[in-house]
Amino acid sequence: MIPRVKGTQDFIDCTLFNFVIDSVKKHLSLYHFTEIQTPILEPVDLFVRSLGTHTDVVSKEMFLIEQRQESSENRICLRPEGTAPTVRAFNEHHIQTTPWKVFACGPMFRYERPQKGRFRQFHQVTMEIIGSGSISEDVQLITMLDRYFHETLKISNYALVLNFLGCSQDREKYLVTLRKFLDKPGVTENICDQCRERKQHNIMRIFDCKTPECQEIYRTAPHIADHLCSECAQEWKDLQNQLALLSVSHVYRPTLVRGLDYYNKTVFEFVSKDLGAQNTFCGGGRYNQLVKDLGGSQDKAAVGAAFGMERLLLLLEPLRDKLTIPHLPALHMIIPMSAQQHTLALLLADELRAHGLATDIIFEGSMKSMMRKAGSVGAAYAIIIGETEQANRTVMLKNMMAGTEQAVAQVDLVKVLKK
Ligand code: HAM
Repeated sequence: MIPRVKGTQDFIDCTLFNFVIDSVKKHLSLYHFTEIQTPILEPVDLFVRSLGTHTDVVSKEMFLIEQRQESSENRICLRPEGTAPTVRAFNEHHIQTTPWKVFACGPMFRYERPQKGRFRQFHQVTMEIIGSGSISEDVQLITMLDRYFHETLKISNYALVLNFLGCSQDREKYLVTLRKFLDKPGVTENICDQCRERKQHNIMRIFDCKTPECQEIYRTAPHIADHLCSECAQEWKDLQNQLALLSVSHVYRPTLVRGLDYYNKTVFEFVSKDLGAQNTFCGGGRYNQLVKDLGGSQDKAAVGAAFGMERLLLLLEPLRDKLTIPHLPALHMIIPMSAQQHTLALLLADELRAHGLATDIIFEGSMKSMMRKAGSVGAAYAIIIGETEQANRTVMLKNMMAGTEQAVAQVDLVKVLKK
């Protein structure tokens, strides 16, 4: 047996997966989002320029494609996320009508160490609003997600954590302050090697450090939300007030920076204790510079988010019974008693399906085993055809729930089943 690739997953039962996809599409359309699809293969440079060279995703986790003719310009990879591809598509198709509110569902790839809720191939539903700078757009996006998780999916054990990273000028000033803090005696020499490395290249990521000693030191570090210009400070206040007015509970987490470099202003995550170590099931924020950074002719403010299907499914599995998952249509199982009735079975099945009746045929087995199989797959009716029925142009119709049987003329079968 050749097993599946490490960090990937087979979905043997897609009921819940499809329920999420169908319901989120419906929910997103209520908020005027439309669906797009972008390729799984993208240029490596797209992610280097957007996520940043020193992010974990770009420096360690990219699935690079080995090409027949290697050339530095066209290095390609399996996409690790969906925001940069959406911005690429926005620029490449010269989209003029903004805000462009789009979503996409599909697989993403990151070479991470697999564990509960962490895969190398996973699925995201990603949604982006390009060309809107209003902070109320962030409120609307976050509220949309909160309503979906809470009301449609009935998840209650989660929290929304928020932070505000300010504009680029705020960031520049803040980084000087943060660096000063890290340079203080008693700090630099006591932080871990990884944090020392981050201090050089991606200083705000020090807050993601899991080492207890570093966390203790950073408890007194300056926070960016306390160093905002007046415009950003007002936006940060409006964001929190509007969320509160819409009854979206949230918690300010001053150390939330998110792992990708393109964010500014709003950043947020939906987290749940029920997930264990990988507790974030949705994350997002504002990325006002990305359109320009990826070659757009002008700055377009943007905000977006993505949730991971695998983590959401972990939360949903125990809630299955509470969800309004649509029932499969009733199944009609034709049971020909011997090979002589196979052609008739095929013709009857074709007729039933043409009238919208879900139908299958069991071609092999003893009468007893075929009836048992019909029961085990949940057939509503068994349609038995033996020599006598074939000769009389009838079938024996068995209601599997009630256990009752009746002879029905083949010409009347659709009418009887549709009743
Ligand atoms: P992200 O936080 O890297 O953000 O990923 C979003 C979600 O994808 C996570 O919250 C998690 O549920 C899921 N996820 C990420 N990595 C894995 C993994 N290895 N295995 C399973 N699930 C995973 C982004 O990707 C941004 N593009 C979100 C965004 C959109 N920001 C603005 N617009």
